[in-house]
Amino acid sequence: MRGCGTLCFFVVLGLVLVHGVNGEDPYRFFTWKVTYGDIYPLGVKQQGILINGQFPGPQIDSVTNDNLIISVYNYLNEPFLISWNGLQQRRNSWQDGVSGTNCPIPPGKNFTYMLQVKDQIGTFFYFPSLAFHKAAGAFGSIRIWSRPRIPVPFPPPAGDYVVLAGDWFKRNHYDLKGILDSGYNLPFPDGLLINGRGWNWIHFHRRTYRFRISNVGLTTSINFRIQGHHMKLVEVEGSHTLQSTYSSLDVHLGQSYSVLVTADQPAQDYYIVVSSRFTSPVLTTTAILHYSNSARGVFGPPPGGPTTQIDWSLNQARSIRWNLTASGPRPNPQGSYHYGMIQTSRTITLANSAPVINGKQRYAVNSVSFVSPVTPLKLADYFKIPGVFYLGSISSSPTWGGGYLQTSVMNADFRSFVEIVFQNWEDTVQSWHIDGYSFFVVGMDGGQWTPASRSRYNLRDTVARCTTQVYPKSWTAIYMALDNVGMWNIRSENWARQYLGQQFYLRVYSPANSWRDEYPIPKNALLCGWASGRHTRPL
Ligand SMILES: *[C@@H]1O[C@H](CO)[C@@H](O)[C@H](O)[C@H]1NC(C)=O
Ligand SMILES: *[C@@H]1O[C@H](CO)[C@@H](O)[C@H](O)[C@H]1NC(C)=O
Repeated sequence: MRGCGTLCFFVVLGLVLVHGVNGEDPYRFFTWKVTYGDIYPLGVKQQGILINGQFPGPQIDSVTNDNLIISVYNYLNEPFLISWNGLQQRRNSWQDGVSGTNCPIPPGKNFTYMLQVKDQIGTFFYFPSLAFHKAAGAFGSIRIWSRPRIPVPFPPPAGDYVVLAGDWFKRNHYDLKGILDSGYNLPFPDGLLINGRGWNWIHFHRRTYRFRISNVGLTTSINFRIQGHHMKLVEVEGSHTLQSTYSSLDVHLGQSYSVLVTADQPAQDYYIVVSSRFTSPVLTTTAILHYSNSARGVFGPPPGGPTTQIDWSLNQARSIRWNLTASGPRPNPQGSYHYGMIQTSRTITLANSAPVINGKQRYAVNSVSFVSPVTPLKLADYFKIPGVFYLGSISSSPTWGGGYLQTSVMNADFRSFVEIVFQNWEDTVQSWHIDGYSFFVVGMDGGQWTPASRSRYNLRDTVARCTTQVYPKSWTAIYMALDNVGMWNIRSENWARQYLGQQFYLRVYSPANSWRDEYPIPKNALLCGWASGRHTRPL
C-alpha cells in the first residue's frame, strides 16, 4: 500500500472484504472535487466543469493491477458521473459510471469508485458521462504503466507527454444539450484544443519522447503530426504495436495512440499540429515543439494533413499491427493469445442510422434509438425490477424498419466468442466504443459486409483495442471474447449521436451467479429510481 496509514489500512481491508478488490495489489487514492469554473480555451469565457480546479482534469498514473479508489464530490447543482474509456473493470460493471450502470451522484453528494486496472497497460482517458458535460471538461488522461519486471518493447523514453486533443465549442454545454433536445444537430465546432488550450509548448532535448494522443473531442476525427519529424507508433489502447513509422496519424473519436518521437532534427522550433479530418472547412491548432538549444522559432507554414480522404485513412488503419512477440500486461508475449484460431459462436451486425422520430433528429442502432431509464439497467437486473428493460429489445442484425425509441439491451452468453460487424450506410465516419472489453479489429472495408468478407480478415496480428472507426459506406468487423460479466455500454463516440440514442447495453450474463464471475453489488452503490430504498446487502 502506498501513502496509507493504519486507519487507512483498515479501510482498505474493509474494501477488500466487501468489494472483492484485490488486496495484494497496490492502492492509489484520489479525492476529486467537481465544480463549475470559468475557462477560456478559445479565448472566450465559458462555464467549465473542473476537477480539483483543473481543466482538463488531473492525470491518473497507475501500474497494471493497481486498485484505484476515487472519491468524487459533486459540487455542481446537477447530477454527475464519471466513466472510464478503456478501463475494463473486470467483473465490476458496478463502477462503470454510465447511466445504465450507476445512479448519478446527486448535487452536493459524493461517491467512491473502486476500480482495478487488472491486466491492463496503455493509454486511456476518463470523461463525464451524463447530459452534455463532456463539452465543458471533466475529462483527463489515464496512463497504465507496465509492472517493473515486464519487458516493454522500447527503451524508456526521456519524457512522456499526454496530448488530449479534440474539437471544441464556445457555446455552453447546456445550450448544446438544448439544441440536441429540441431535435437539431450541433453546429460546426469552433476550434480544436490540445490539453484544454489552443496553444502549448513542449521542451525537447536530443532524446526520444513518448506522446500519448487521445481524441477527447465531441464530433470530429483528428489528424496529429509534428513538423519535420516522423512518429513511431508503439501502443494502441493497451496493445503494443509493430513499430511502424508515420508522418501523420488519424485519431478518431475516443481513440488513443502512443508514438515515439526522436529529436534528431536541426535545433529550432517545430509545429505540433492537430487538424480536423473529413470536415469542411478544416480546423487546425498548433503547439510548439521547442529544442533546448533552438536556434530559431517555428519556420514556414504548419505542415498540411493528408489530402486524400478515406482510402489513405483506411490503409493506415490496416497497417497498424500487433507485435506478437512483445509483452502486453503479462510477461508472456501478446501473440500467445491466438484470437484468429477461435471459432466464433455468434455474429452480431450493428447498423447505425439517423432517423427523425416524433419530428426530432435522433440516432439509432438497428433502428433503436436508446433512451436512458430512470433506474439504471444494472440495478434493475440485480434487484429484478420488472418493466425497466427487456432482453431482445434490440435485434442482433439490422431491421431496416423506421427508427423508434427504446431502452435497448442485448443479451449475450458469458464465455462466448463473438463476431460483431459494424455496418455504416451513412456518409460520415463512425466511431464505436465497447465498455468492459478490448476487441480484435479483424477487418474493415468499403461497401456491404457479407460472409465472404471474412476471407480478407486479419486473423494473425491485428491489434486489440476498445474503440474502432467505421468509414462511410463501409464496414468494420471485430472479434471479442465475452469474458467479462456485466451490463456494458456499446456506444457511438460521437457525442451528439451518443446523446441522441446511438448506443445500447450488452448484458453479458452468467447463470452461475458466482463472485468468481462478478463482484457483488458495492455496499456504497447509490440507489435511485425504482431501486431507491432497496438494500445493497442481504438483511
Ligand atoms: C460522502 O458520502 C457519504 C455516503 O453518502 C456520507 O456519509 C459522507 O458524509 C459524505 N461526505 C461528505 C464530505 O459529504
Ligand atoms: C516487437 O517486440 C520485440 C520484443 O520486445 C522487439 O524486439 C521488436 O523490435 C518488436 N518489433 C517491431 C517490428 O516493432
